Amino acid sequence: MADLFSARGLGVRYGVARAVENVDLTVPDNGVVALLGANGAGKSSILKAIAGLIPAEGQMSFAGEDLSRLNARQRVRRGIVYVPEGRQIVGSLTVAENLLLGGFHLDGRTLRQRREAMLELFPEIAGRIHSPAWMLSGGEQQMLAIGRGLMSAPKLLLLDEPSLGLAPLLIRRVFERLVTIKQESGLAIILVEQNFRMTMKVADAMYFVRNGIIVGHRTAADLDTPASRADVVEAYLGAGQPAPA
Ligand SMILES: Nc1ncnc2c1ncn2[C@@H]1O[C@H](COP(=O)(O)OP(=O)(O)OP(=O)(O)O)[C@@H](O)[C@H]1O
Ligand SMILES: [Mg+2]
Repeated sequence: MADLFSARGLGVRYGVARAVENVDLTVPDNGVVALLGANGAGKSSILKAIAGLIPAEGQMSFAGEDLSRLNARQRVRRGIVYVPEGRQIVGSLTVAENLLLGGFHLDGRTLRQRREAMLELFPEIAGRIHSPAWMLSGGEQQMLAIGRGLMSAPKLLLLDEPSLGLAPLLIRRVFERLVTIKQESGLAIILVEQNFRMTMKVADAMYFVRNGIIVGHRTAADLDTPASRADVVEAYLGAGQPAPA
């Protein structure tokens, strides 16, 4: 089966500072691929480069098409949607209006259908549809941000640290929903995370990022024993990471 997305030799520079170097990455159809690494490793830069939000070196292809010719807006139209870290929903707008932003280009009927589907997926926000988004809890805001990203029915969702700043219970809820999304739709996801244990629940493959380069790669099958998981934490993630179950 052909890969939905692949990057070869991906690089990102900010001025003279090199943030990402020579990254090779592939995402199969309906696959969930995670990027794990410490603060400043270059994870968000990789996602932004794929979304076309920052210039990048190297080759990227999506559904058989060369991405380098396409700007960010064209990539969104092809189905590549970035959900930034820190949620970035519009607090002064209602939940419904925030969802609308994610599907602004849809006709009224499709928009209503998608909105219903999102509210079914995230019942926590369904009851708050006319509340301003700032009134939602952190976890609910994250659900709204993901729901907004899904409004346009993307093919590849670039999800930047959905667990950031959330309490463990809320992280679990957000990840449960990611599992549902993965099972119920043909969507592929690149998930940036620092939480190895939660990431293992959804990812089919993991890339470990350090100082802008990929230092390791594991499939879910490689990580099916406690010893193999402990090895990965030791080799790539280091102290501060909760012991994997
Ligand atoms: N707009 C920018 N201008 C200059 N340097 C930047 C910019 N954005 C990121 N960087 C630098 O690039 C490197 C990678 O940053 P990036 O945001 O990709 O890391 P990250 O892995 O997402 O980190 P975090 O987990 O903290 O979000 C860092 O050294 C960062 O300081
Ligand atoms: Mg980041």
